[in-house]
Amino acid sequence: MAFQPKARLHLGAEAEVWSGTWMGRPAVRKHRRSRAWRHPDLEKRLGYRRMLSEARILIRIKGAGLPVPAVWDVDLESGRIIMEKMNGRPLIEMLRDEKVPQDEIHKALHNSGCAVRMLHRMAVTHGDLSTNNILIDEDCNAFLIDFGLSAVEYEVERFGIDLHVMDEILGASHPNIANGIDIFLAGYQQCDNDQGPLEELSGGMPPVAKDVLKRLDDVRSRVRYHG
Ligand SMILES: Nc1ncnc2c1ncn2[C@@H]1O[C@H](COP(=O)(O)OP(=O)(O)O)[C@@H](O)[C@H]1O
Ligand SMILES: [Mg+2]
Repeated sequence: MAFQPKARLHLGAEAEVWSGTWMGRPAVRKHRRSRAWRHPDLEKRLGYRRMLSEARILIRIKGAGLPVPAVWDVDLESGRIIMEKMNGRPLIEMLRDEKVPQDEIHKALHNSGCAVRMLHRMAVTHGDLSTNNILIDEDCNAFLIDFGLSAVEYEVERFGIDLHVMDEILGASHPNIANGIDIFLAGYQQCDNDQGPLEELSGGMPPVAKDVLKRLDDVRSRVRYHG
């Protein structure tokens, strides 16, 4: 692989991510880390499946015009994927940065909601939404990354769960941002208003924003009820 590493961006339990260049273009290399406590065969299958799924979904939604990283090279055997480096920094950093004006935070949250809705309109759930997996550029545009747990989906439940995860995160780790989730959800609904009716896809119709928001309310009360 013609990847020239420059700096390590991230070392997590599951993956190591380096920034660098690929054919002279800004790129990142994501490398699945093996976990010693798992059986090697299982480890290989799980890592393999996630990486394959991440690459397939990225290619599918990039092809449909979503602003997600282009996939440039995949090596399933060693668990490496090379993709386009997106501009911006994780939403979590922006929310914790006291120098960022409120109107920019507002814009970033609104655009994040819209980015998630654009994904959902393609019948894809993210599966691992967090303020780490949304990048915000200097114009407050939002870009989703980290599609290892994404899935093509038509049932409303998993779409509602995507939103519920954001609900929990924006409430729990960023309590200094008032109504963060409301701004995010307004962006989610606004996106459907702007984009118009959904297109029928090969597996049917994905749920409309209104129905996903309704499901979010159901999930919220279920969680409250069961603790
Ligand atoms: N395509 C990308 N462009 C820019 N930064 C990225 C890209 N992919 C990953 N990163 C950075 O690396 C971090 C970890 O990558 P991620 O795909 O989220 O791995 P993990 O599955 O370990 O969470 C991200 O939070 C982000 O800061
Ligand atoms: Mg991540």
